[in-house]
Amino acid sequence: MSTTLAQALPKPGLIEGGLSRWREVLADHYMRLSDRSRRLRFLSPVSKPIIESMTQKTRPAAVLGIEIDGKMRAVLEIFHTEENHAEIGLSVEDAYQGRGLGRRLFDAGLNVAAELGIETADFFFDSENVRIRSLVKRAGAKMHSLGGGEVTAAINIDSAMAARAPKVKLQ
Ligand SMILES: CC(C)(COP(=O)(O)OP(=O)(O)OC[C@H]1O[C@@H](n2cnc3c(N)ncnc32)[C@H](O)[C@@H]1OP(=O)(O)O)[C@@H](O)C(=O)NCCC(=O)NCCS
Repeated sequence: MSTTLAQALPKPGLIEGGLSRWREVLADHYMRLSDRSRRLRFLSPVSKPIIESMTQKTRPAAVLGIEIDGKMRAVLEIFHTEENHAEIGLSVEDAYQGRGLGRRLFDAGLNVAAELGIETADFFFDSENVRIRSLVKRAGAKMHSLGGGEVTAAINIDSAMAARAPKVKLQ
């Protein structure tokens, strides 16, 4: 683990460079995930050749990342699927999970979605995925089981951002 991460959590940011750069960064990041994390991200066992062809075709509206030691260790993709609506997926490399990076990226992703004019977003995840469940729950998601161990979480972006705003203490 890098000293950078131990000292302070690095900040998420929009990845510059447009579609071709995003595709390259996403492919590299997804290749570095363990089979388990890749399955949790895509809800099916996704082989490396599939990652390659999938990332060559992907067309997200925005991609955010957290760079540590020169590599994008965490990424979040926003897919603008309908007017004012998006699907969002995120992942953190295994060695960096459970340290608050996902939470930071998730919050930054909702901010960027709001800037893109997105009002609601869906996340799809495995019912046993406690970390993403915790993130979407905190954001006030309405969750529904899709069967087969899959869950969808619908988030209202404004409400989620308001819920995490620091409460002002009245005198
Ligand atoms: C899901 C994922 C993005 C979360 O990122 P992370 O950096 O590992 O998670 P964080 O450390 O930020 O913790 C996220 C939440 O899980 C909670 N958490 C962390 N470890 C936990 C554990 N072992 N058990 C229960 N909750 C846990 C944290 O308290 C936090 O909740 P909070 O914000 O309500 O406090 C990451 O684990 C991952 O990439 N998993 C594989 C891919 C995936 O599942 N993607 C999501 C589907 S799109």
